[in-house]
Parts: sequence; structure tokens; C-alpha cells
Amino acid sequence: MGNLDGKVALVTGAGGMRGVGRATALKLAAQGADLAITDVRRDASDLPPAEVRQEWHSIDSVSDEVEALGRRCLPRYADLGISDEIQTLVRQVMEHYGRIDILINNARAVIGRDKVPVTDLEEEVWHHFLDINTTAVFLCTKFVGQEMVRQGSGGRIINIASNASKQASAMGAAYSASKFAVLGLTQASALDLAPHGITVNAVCPGPINTDRMSYWERSQADAAGVSLEEFRAQIVEQAGRATPLGRIAEAEDVANMVGFLVSDEANFITGQAYNVNGGLLFH
Ligand SMILES: NC(=O)c1ccc[n+]([C@@H]2O[C@H](COP(=O)([O-])OP(=O)(O)OC[C@H]3O[C@@H](n4cnc5c(N)ncnc54)[C@H](O)[C@@H]3O)[C@@H](O)[C@H]2O)c1
Repeated sequence: MGNLDGKVALVTGAGGMRGVGRATALKLAAQGADLAITDVRRDASDLPPAEVRQEWHSIDSVSDEVEALGRRCLPRYADLGISDEIQTLVRQVMEHYGRIDILINNARAVIGRDKVPVTDLEEEVWHHFLDINTTAVFLCTKFVGQEMVRQGSGGRIINIASNASKQASAMGAAYSASKFAVLGLTQASALDLAPHGITVNAVCPGPINTDRMSYWERSQADAAGVSLEEFRAQIVEQAGRATPLGRIAEAEDVANMVGFLVSDEANFITGQAYNVNGGLLFH
């Protein structure tokens, strides 16, 4: 689907071995794009156990995979909670490739510490979720959008939002607020950038079968005396049974929607928020 030859795509949060960012980077490379990929450097204690066991090297490993597909790849570490690092990242991509055509805002705050009733939510955790899940999406849109406007050849921005952008859960105040905000940002950016031929859309996945690190899942696993991976497998199984299509999403299901939204077939679509959730939610 869609020929992205000659296009350059920047994907944030792309270092996870089983994450949506990696699946998306590989999808866009398969469609012909050259890639710039970014992630934050994380301590081993903050990584999914399988990544440590298999000596996965975040965006450096993904970069090798993109190059194996015959596309160029620029891996750059950046903390998206720091505005200067976002500006430096965008400058590095421009110096390297001379253009950016596609931006995929996929990174999010490492989850788990937010999973408490609103009355127990630490202000610092609230701000961290807003910083990474919302403000960084705004800043990447702003700085990459400026380059796209200057280039004058249109562009595509895709924000990876969530079911939680449309329906909140208990113990999800910071996460849901940060992801609801992404849909407002998507719509406003779509209107601002439409005159420049730049489309902005959101993808709203339900639960995804990733190895994402969750501090909450780790503490629940410890309390139950099982490994994090066993606990995670139970959650994936239960959530699959609760989903009309009988399973939760794979990272590739989300990447496929992104692949469509950046293709020529999606030329006339902007400001929308598409669910990829197996029938969990209809609006
Ligand atoms: N996994 C799910 O079940 C699920 C469900 C719905 C929506 N989503 C959304 O899909 C997207 C991808 O989810 P995932 O589970 O693949 O990813 P994830 O939870 O592993 O996080 C994505 C990436 O963001 C990076 N990140 C964290 N803090 C950062 C920082 N300060 N600066 C830069 N990068 C930082 C992480 O290192 C990670 O590689 C996210 O936007 C998430 O909200 C995920």
C-alpha cells in the first residue's frame, strides 16, 4: 500500500522490541520511506525483561532492521520531556535528510505510577504524563510542522492516541486526560495545517499485545508471586476474551492503520481519530 519512495518519516518512541513505534517504522520502511527514529535512554530496570534478556538495543536495533529492508535510518536518542531536545532532534533530522514528510507521535510516558485513584495521584506523575503524552506531541507537531510548511510539499502527522482518548477508566485520570487532549490537538492542528496540504489524524488503539513496561503490572506480579511476563500474559488473555473480535491488537494492526493514513489513498482525510480496537468501542 502507498508508495513512500523519497519521503522521510520521523517516529517517536520507536525503540521497544515489541512496540508500536518499531512496527510502524518497519511498516513505513516497507512502503519505501527513509526513517528517523527516536527514543529516550532507559535504565535496564525500566525496560521489559525480554529486551534485557535478548540484549535488545532500542532504536539502534530497530535501525539495523530498517536498513536490512534497504532504507536509510537515523537513530537519535532524545528525552521528549525537554523542549530543547525536541528542537535538537528536529534539527538533526533536517541536517541529515534535508526534509521531513511524515511525523508519527507515538512515544508515551512509561505507565503504571499513574494507576491510582485521582485522590492519590501525585502531582509530579500528572505533570509527567501531560509532558510526554501531550506537550511533546504539541512540540513535535510545532517544530516538524514548521519544516513541513517551509518545504511547501504537504505532509502527514499521525498521533497515536488511545481508547482512553474517548472513554476513561478508573485509576486513569492522568493517562486519559493526556490522551483526550491529543484529540483536541489533532483537530486544531488539522485546521491550522490544512491550507499547507498537511493532514493530521489520530489512531486510537484498544489494548495492544506489546511488552510495554508498566510499574503497576510489575508490582501486581510481585504481589501475586508470578513473573511480570506471566502476569502480562494473563492480562492479554483476559482482555482478548473481553474483545468482540476475540483478541487484543498486535502492534502491526496499529502500524497498518498508520500505513494507510500516510499513503496517497488517505489524501482527503484530516482531523479524524480512528479506532483500532477489535470492536471494543464504537465512537
Ligand atoms: N500498549 C497498549 O496497550 C496501548 C493501548 C492504547 C494505546 N497505546 C498507545 O500506543 C503508543 C505506543 O505504545 P507502546 O505500548 O508500543 O509503547 P510503550 O509504552 O512501550 O512506550 C512507547 C515509547 O515511548 C518511550 N518514551 C517514554 N518516555 C519517553 C521520553 N521521556 N522521551 C522519549 N520517549 C519516551 C518509551 O521508551 C517507549 O519506547 C503509545 O502512544 C500508547 O499510548 C498503547
